[in-house]
Amino acid sequence: MRRPYQPSLLRLLHGATALLVPLAWLTGLVVVSTSDGRFGRLPFTLAGDWIDIHGTVGVLLWPIALLFGLYALTAGRARLRQPANALALVALALAVGSGKLMDEDWLRDGQLDHLVYSVHLLAWLLIALAVSLHVAGVLQRGGWPLARSMASVQLRPGDLPGNWFDQIRRSFRAGR
Ligand code: HEM
Repeated sequence: MRRPYQPSLLRLLHGATALLVPLAWLTGLVVVSTSDGRFGRLPFTLAGDWIDIHGTVGVLLWPIALLFGLYALTAGRARLRQPANALALVALALAVGSGKLMDEDWLRDGQLDHLVYSVHLLAWLLIALAVSLHVAGVLQRGGWPLARSMASVQLRPGDLPGNWFDQIRRSFRAGR
């Protein structure tokens, strides 16, 4: 069987997203524990301004998520026929979109009843579920070879950074 291969632009954007999402999720967990507390608290305390740290991860994540989303909807749209891939993208959009609408002073001021905050909390749960289903789906469909293909650094001819623009352009023509 041929070894699965993922386009380099997908690997770059997906890789950056897959690194930042767990960071955002974990720092968000600490924020909920330290500044909200309605759902319980972590059994340890961590020094630092976690609202600020979580916000910084969010600032790094949103432009990458935007580019990844644009890639997935154009050159990567065939992969979105997999429901678990599409769900991961929807969860990412909801988490990043609601995070952009958050005001970091709400939690500092103890204002926990904003609708946007509730949506952001829901997105935090949804992304954990969606990414778990997504990874399970990848392992079920292609096992470790498919999962590993996303972390491979191998490049095929015609899939160098100089080809990225062409790859996106071709996906528009293919969609007509
Ligand atoms: C952490 C957050 C993650 C998000 C938001 C995410 C999202 C996505 C999305 C939206 C796609 C489709 C891309 C396209 O349409 O071109 C995709 C593909 C893929 N992802 Fe992830 N992913 C994440 C983590 C992971 C992890 C940890 C793995 C490792 C197992 C993984 C492995 C893959 C693979 C192998 C594909 C290609 C699958 C296919 O051809 O159907 N992803 N991912």
